[in-house]
Amino acid sequence: MSGFQGELTELGRATPANGNGCNVFVETYGCQMNVYDSQAIFGLLQRAGFATVQSEPEADVVLINTCSVREHAEHRVLSRVGELRRKRELAGLPQPIIGICGCMAERMGDDLQKNNHRIDLVVGVDNYDTLPGLLGELTGHVEPVQRTVTGHRSEAHYVAPPELYPVNNSHLVTIHKGCDYKCTYCIVPYTRGPQSEKHPDQILEEIRTVVAAGGSEVTLLGQNVTAYSWQQDLDFAALLELVADVPGVERIRFLTGHPRDMHRHLMDAIGRLDKVCPWLHIPIQSGSDRVLRRMKRLYTKAEYLDVVSYARKVIPGVTFSSDFIVGFPGESEIDFQDTLEVVREVKYDQIFSFKYSERPGVPAARLDDDVPVEEKKRRLAELMALQEETWNREAAALVGQMWTGVVEAEARRPAGAWRVRTANNRKFVLGGDGIVVGQNVRAKITGYRNTTFLAEIPA
Ligand code: 5AD
Ligand code: SF4
Repeated sequence: MSGFQGELTELGRATPANGNGCNVFVETYGCQMNVYDSQAIFGLLQRAGFATVQSEPEADVVLINTCSVREHAEHRVLSRVGELRRKRELAGLPQPIIGICGCMAERMGDDLQKNNHRIDLVVGVDNYDTLPGLLGELTGHVEPVQRTVTGHRSEAHYVAPPELYPVNNSHLVTIHKGCDYKCTYCIVPYTRGPQSEKHPDQILEEIRTVVAAGGSEVTLLGQNVTAYSWQQDLDFAALLELVADVPGVERIRFLTGHPRDMHRHLMDAIGRLDKVCPWLHIPIQSGSDRVLRRMKRLYTKAEYLDVVSYARKVIPGVTFSSDFIVGFPGESEIDFQDTLEVVREVKYDQIFSFKYSERPGVPAARLDDDVPVEEKKRRLAELMALQEETWNREAAALVGQMWTGVVEAEARRPAGAWRVRTANNRKFVLGGDGIVVGQNVRAKITGYRNTTFLAEIPA
């Protein structure tokens, strides 16, 4: 699972209502899997004749795709529901139908409709095909038989319409769902269920559709893509080879890798296949072997560092990012110092770090959460400060280099500039006329601001 979380992603593209004239807005929290699932929900609803809209005030139905990984993420969603209701009340507008999808739906089920949360519908991760029917009934003022539909179905693999929604010029393609790892702090194996693979033929077919729709870059997604295994016969390295053979695919990224599955033959394949981007997001979570054992991460710090050094040998230009949890139950100052040592040693491009958040029912919930909140906060701040300091040194040394990248979108700042991403996932901002999204550019790095570089095309 990846730490690319917490940002609210608004998916929206106004389409004419061709059926029931009912407008749906989907709001997404959490990881890239949720972004993909929201695209799949869009596709299902559009096919059923619903119109999807860009902004919540226009919507008759608001679906919120949610994350349960930390308590804070869940609180945000519940307060968002209250805010939506209040806004309409104050404006004297009719109330929308509000549905909760995703991990919170799965974890909390019926409870979401109790306790005065004012939620109309709860649909879990494997039941989105029921949405058109349920919404049809609710918008037609028919009381549906069920307002909560949850539970895992191994056969449910949703496919997002690739022509609709590239993310950062890269099309997300989920290759499997769920997780069999059961790290002791994590709720995902319960909310997303056991790991279940999408058929390789279905994955390839989806990627061909992406190419047919004009795409050339895909991001293969899963809680642990590196654990992909189709009937023990085709592993992730073999899948990468097949995807690289699809005509028209130029770049392949993937999220998230588990350090345990970063076998040498996989890293060899990543290094060998030109189309596979040299960027590894491999969450270590902690640098202490004692904590890693208690988290049930199944590797040691030395094994992780061995993966990093082998990857540096066989994958030209490779960069790394990672997730960290600080203040796991029993984490001592010495354990925390081991974590800081990893950051100094690996020199990540980017890290996502979180305070441990106890989740109900997970194995770690039985441990005494004995690191005080203030201490968790202090460790988090120290970890982030060290990353910033380490990264600033790395980034300064990169200024002056010539980089190639693909234009992803207009930059937010400065006006008229473009956001470009390199194969190894570095971002730079470039000004210039006649630039278009999807174009390959080569530019000289002139400076940096946090993790974004500034660049210009040399005269
Ligand atoms: N508390 C804090 N962070 C967590 N993560 C997962 N579960 C928890 C938890 N209970 C973090 C991990 C994971 C990222 C997506 O979220 O770092 O990689
Ligand atoms: Fe990732 Fe571990 Fe959670 Fe699985 S159980 S999603 S491997 S953190």
